[in-house]
Amino acid sequence: MLRAVATNQLARFAPGLYVRLTGQTGRGAAAEEAAADVAGYFRRCVEDYFARLGLASDAADAFLAGKSLMEYGPGDLPGVAALMVAHGAERVCCVDRFPLVSLSEKNARVVGDLVAASAGRERERLVACLRDPADPRAGFEPTRIEYLVRPSGLSGLTDAFDFVFSRAVLEHVDDLEATFADMVRAMRPGALAIHLVDLRSHGLHRRNPLDFLAWSETAWRWMYSAKGVPNRWRIDRYRHIVERLPVEVLQFEATHCAAPEQVSDVRPLLAAPFRGVSDDDLAVLGFWLVFRKPGEAP
Ligand SMILES: C[S@@+](CC[C@H](N)C(=O)[O-])C[C@H]1O[C@@H](n2cnc3c(N)ncnc32)[C@H](O)[C@@H]1O
Repeated sequence: MLRAVATNQLARFAPGLYVRLTGQTGRGAAAEEAAADVAGYFRRCVEDYFARLGLASDAADAFLAGKSLMEYGPGDLPGVAALMVAHGAERVCCVDRFPLVSLSEKNARVVGDLVAASAGRERERLVACLRDPADPRAGFEPTRIEYLVRPSGLSGLTDAFDFVFSRAVLEHVDDLEATFADMVRAMRPGALAIHLVDLRSHGLHRRNPLDFLAWSETAWRWMYSAKGVPNRWRIDRYRHIVERLPVEVLQFEATHCAAPEQVSDVRPLLAAPFRGVSDDDLAVLGFWLVFRKPGEAP
């Protein structure tokens, strides 16, 4: 616990140093994954979004054509954003709380893999969003893929985007209400938002996948508030927030759940914020959320 509290102070006062020392990519420790795996992960993310929205590949290109997109929390490389541009999006603004993006040799190979695996118009559009098509280490054209690092993790933008997405991010944000308010403000009328939320412990449980909910709020804040680890909010909190937003919810579906005995075993240990959560909600370990801001589609 003392080590966690000390490293939390480092993350609070020197976030860039903390990220470098821990080798964070947003997907785990950098050393563990090969460039081809990372490129495959980005392709899968995009396929998952399109499948959730019921879009076949051609329809996805038509859907994205000319649109402005926002991604919360791209991790260390805006690979999903680049693939969205390859599928026809005009631009993607990537907003993050931590300065994770790194144009390392490995990430240059990831971009090379994305280009090599694409063809036709998709490949042309992908290459066109690179600053230097011969050298992926030069990064992306900021007019096509913009990277905003904000200590709040919020875009601060209004009426700017037709499509907003995130994966494995909302469970990390420190102020969920503020993030959803930022998102809805930044969406144009008719815009869509899609989020995949991972409510698991991110390696911070011991015996039961839900026992990280036993730490008091104070202990959790001392150990983790500045590190971007899970905020621990359960699906009921998201439901409560989303029900009060001026949006039309299209999908709100669990991806996987804890077993009933894991829920009943952890119930007596729960910290105060989680004691009122129903068994069904407590069991949810991840979900898809899709909503639309009412109004004329842009
Ligand atoms: C687990 S990573 C996911 C990265 C990427 N979406 C992926 O699927 O690989 C979480 C991301 O959320 C970002 N993040 C954490 N807290 C945030 C906040 N309050 N606002 C915006 N992004 C945040 C992290 O910096 C990181 O980029």
